[in-house]
Amino acid sequence: MNTWTYHNPDFKSDLVNLEMLKYSPWAGHRNFAYDYVANMCPATIVELGTHYGTSFFAFLQAVEDGKSPKTQIYGIDAWGYIDGNEWTKKEYEIDIYNIFLKTLDIYKHKAKAHTIRKIFDDALADVEDNSVDLLHIDGNHTYDAVKHDYETWIPKVKESGVILFHDVSETSYLHENSSPEFWKEIKSKHQYTLEFDHCYGLGIFCKNSSVYHRLKQINLMHYQHINNLLDVQNRDDLRKNYFKLKDNDIYINFLKRQQQNIEDEIKKYEDTISKKDSYIHQLQNEHDTIEHSYAEATSTIANKDAYINQLCIQQNNMQKAYEKTIVDKDSYIDQLCIQQNNMQKAYEKTIVDKDAYIDTLHVLQDDIKTAYEKTIVDKDTYIENIKNEHQEAIAELQQQLKIAKQNTLRSTCQDEGQRNHIKNLEEKIQSLANRKRSLVSWRS
Ligand SMILES: C[S@@+](CC[C@H](N)C(=O)[O-])C[C@H]1O[C@@H](n2cnc3c(N)ncnc32)[C@H](O)[C@@H]1O
Repeated sequence: MNTWTYHNPDFKSDLVNLEMLKYSPWAGHRNFAYDYVANMCPATIVELGTHYGTSFFAFLQAVEDGKSPKTQIYGIDAWGYIDGNEWTKKEYEIDIYNIFLKTLDIYKHKAKAHTIRKIFDDALADVEDNSVDLLHIDGNHTYDAVKHDYETWIPKVKESGVILFHDVSETSYLHENSSPEFWKEIKSKHQYTLEFDHCYGLGIFCKNSSVYHRLKQINLMHYQHINNLLDVQNRDDLRKNYFKLKDNDIYINFLKRQQQNIEDEIKKYEDTISKKDSYIHQLQNEHDTIEHSYAEATSTIANKDAYINQLCIQQNNMQKAYEKTIVDKDSYIDQLCIQQNNMQKAYEKTIVDKDAYIDTLHVLQDDIKTAYEKTIVDKDTYIENIKNEHQEAIAELQQQLKIAKQNTLRSTCQDEGQRNHIKNLEEKIQSLANRKRSLVSWRS
């Protein structure tokens, strides 16, 4: 027959979070939880609802102390991630999950502790059926919620497994439609159940008889007794804290009197401050007026500055345009100079060409004059020759005419032919004389 060892562990989680763990509603079951793990050595523990971890760290302490090295513990909790849940609204205003992780961090064997931050239904897929040795149901404590958690998770529990239910005490957990009612149903349907009534009650449901019979043999009152001791200790703590509080009350009263004095002083100060405030207000108004004028002046100056800037820009642009005009004109003047130069050169060239041409004309004129004079001389010679010829002809004709006249006279000129011949000769003499006259006049 297996014996059951009762331990007296130190829960190191208290070093981090004493108040929320040692005085929590679950604290009175920590020794049983520790001993359960140490004596039963469950391979897999799953907890629905971990919160700050009072129960979780009680299981883990046994593993930490080497009492059940193979145990793996899974804590499932939404830690504030459930919409509309009462825990979400109130409890998780402080970051419980982070405090939980900080506590877990001090454990050497933290690798054996696993957290699943999900709502219970979503975590179902993370746990195999028929794999859990110990299931702890401690989530939402309404009747419906506990029933739902039980029904959805029971397939995960081995045939030899055990389910713990917290908050099953009808004397201490008084809400209607809550976990005690469901626990009553479990007890009525199943024979292998045990329970503690202290600390809001812990129901123990064994799926089959083997674990039940073992648990049945242990002294459950031992744990009730420890809880009573704890209660005494807690009451002691309470008493100490009460006197501490009383001391603090005296101190608080002293502080209150001091505070009253200070408040009186403050009142005086406040009066002074109020006067000063109104003076400051007055100064503020004056300051506002000055600031307004200053703002106006600043704006005027700013406008003028802008105008000056504009003028500067215009002046600059004009300067640039003026400089450009000068440059353009200079280049135009240069161009004109070049043109003038070219014209001057062309002009000079024309003069030279004309001079050369005039020289050529002079030469030509001289040649013509020479030719002319030569022609005149030639003509004179010619005329002289003709004149001589004519004089000779005239003389001859005059001779002939003289002879003819003599002959005529001799024959009395009865012959018609003779008379025509004389007439022709006289006409020829006349035309030669005319020609001679015209040549003489042409020559002169
Ligand atoms: C009573 S506390 C758990 C106390 C803890 N076992 C202890 O020892 O201090 C209930 C916890 O269950 C969680 N919870 C309730 N209903 C849940 C759900 N459906 N899914 C996930 N977490 C839930 C809450 O966030 C809360 O932290």
